Amino acid sequence: MERPARIGILGGGGILGAHLPAYRQLGAACEVVVVAEPEPARHAAIRQLAGCDVPIVADYHEVLARPDVDGVDIILPHHLHLPATLAAAAAGKHVITEKVMARNIAECDQMIAACDAAGVTLTVCHDRRYHGEWQALKGIVETGWLGDIFFWKLDHNQDVVIPPSSWAHWRDGIGGGCIMSCLTHQIDALRWYGGEVARVTCLTAVRPERMQGEFAGVVVGQMASGALAELSINWWTRSHQGANRLWYEMVQVCGSSGEAYRVDGRGTFVRIHDRDNQAARERFGEAVCDGFVAVPAGDWGGHQRCLAEWVKLLRGEPAAILTSGRECRGTVEVAEAAYRSVETGQTVALPLDPQPWNPSGMPANLRGLTAARQPDYHIDHGATRDR
Ligand SMILES: NC(=O)c1ccc[n+]([C@@H]2O[C@H](COP(=O)([O-])OP(=O)(O)OC[C@H]3O[C@@H](n4cnc5c(N)ncnc54)[C@H](O)[C@@H]3O)[C@@H](O)[C@H]2O)c1
Repeated sequence: MERPARIGILGGGGILGAHLPAYRQLGAACEVVVVAEPEPARHAAIRQLAGCDVPIVADYHEVLARPDVDGVDIILPHHLHLPATLAAAAAGKHVITEKVMARNIAECDQMIAACDAAGVTLTVCHDRRYHGEWQALKGIVETGWLGDIFFWKLDHNQDVVIPPSSWAHWRDGIGGGCIMSCLTHQIDALRWYGGEVARVTCLTAVRPERMQGEFAGVVVGQMASGALAELSINWWTRSHQGANRLWYEMVQVCGSSGEAYRVDGRGTFVRIHDRDNQAARERFGEAVCDGFVAVPAGDWGGHQRCLAEWVKLLRGEPAAILTSGRECRGTVEVAEAAYRSVETGQTVALPLDPQPWNPSGMPANLRGLTAARQPDYHIDHGATRDR
C-alpha cells in the first residue's frame, strides 16, 4: 500500500489515550480518518488527542459506510464488541478490537465466523504480548534454561469503583466482573508463555457498591503441560500506588533449573539454579547463579507495538500479529471456565461447550449503543507505560 492505512475508531473513551498516540508515532504509515463517539462530553478530549481535523460522528455505522476506511479499531464497551465486529465485517473492514475480545466464547465464535466469511482480518489488542518487558520474559522462557516449568503466578492490582451509570458496572456490559475485564491480561499472558490451560477452579468476592460482578477473584489452574498456575485480581487495593508500593502487575515463573519474573515498574529478571548452564552464564555473567539479574528489554509499550503491527497488516506488509481472534478466543474461554467454576463450585475442564450469553439485567439506556457517563465514573487502569 503506497498511501497511509486509513483507520476509523469506534469509541472515544479512556483507552483512546493509548491508541491515538500509538498511531501518531507511525507517521505517514497510517491516518485516523474518523472517530465515532455518541457522548458529546467526550468530544473535547477526543479533539485534544486526534486534532480538530478528524471528524467525530455519533453513530459508528457512519464510519463503516465510508469507503475510505480500511480498518476499524473497536474500543467500545465489551457487550458491543460482538455487534460492532459483525457490522464491520459485513462492511468489509478489517477489525482490531480492544481486549477483552467478547463476553464469552459463543460471541468470539460469531466474530471469527463473520470475519472469515467476509475475508477480513480479526485482531485483538491484548497489549501485554507486545510490551518490551513482557516480551523479555517470553524470551527467557523460550531459552529452555528454566528447565521443567512447574509453577506460574500472575497478579493484577487496581483500585476501581464503577457506578451503576456505567456499562462497566454491569455483568452484561463488562462480561462478568474484573476477571473477564482485566484478569484476561494475565490469562492471555499465561497462555502465551506456558501453553493452554487444562482446568481451573475459581473463587470470587462481590461488593455491589463497587460493581455488580466480582471485584476480586482467585483462579487456580493446571496447564496442559502439568504446571500449576495461580492468578489473582484485586480491584480494591492501593498497593500499586504511592510510596513503598508493591506492584500493579506481576508474573513469576519457576522451573526445575531456574526462575524468572516481571514486576511492573521494576523490569524483568532471571535466576539460574543450574551452574552448568554455560550459555546463561555467558549471557548474564556469574551473578545469574547467585541472584536475579535484569533481562534487557525493549523500551516500547504494548499498545504502541500492537497497533504498529496491525497497521502493517492493513498495509499488506509482513506483520508480527501475536493476537488473532482465533488465538485470543482461548483467553476468553479460560475466564468463562472460571465463572462456570464459581457457579458450580467445581473444577472445570477445558475445552468448554459454547453457551449463549445469559443476561442478568443492565439498564436499558446502557444496553443500546450509547453509554451514559457520569462525573464520578472512575476506572484506575494503573500505572502502565501506555496510559
Ligand atoms: N489494554 C488496556 O490496558 C485497557 C485499558 C482500558 C480499557 N481497555 C479496553 O478498552 C475498551 C474501552 O474501554 P474504556 O476504558 O475506554 O471505556 P470507556 O467507558 O472509557 O469508553 C467507552 C466509550 O465508548 C463509547 N460508546 C458507547 N457506545 C458507543 C457506540 N455505539 N459508538 C461509539 N462509541 C460508543 C462511550 O460513550 C465511551 O466513551 C474496553 O474493551 C476495555 O477493556 C483496555
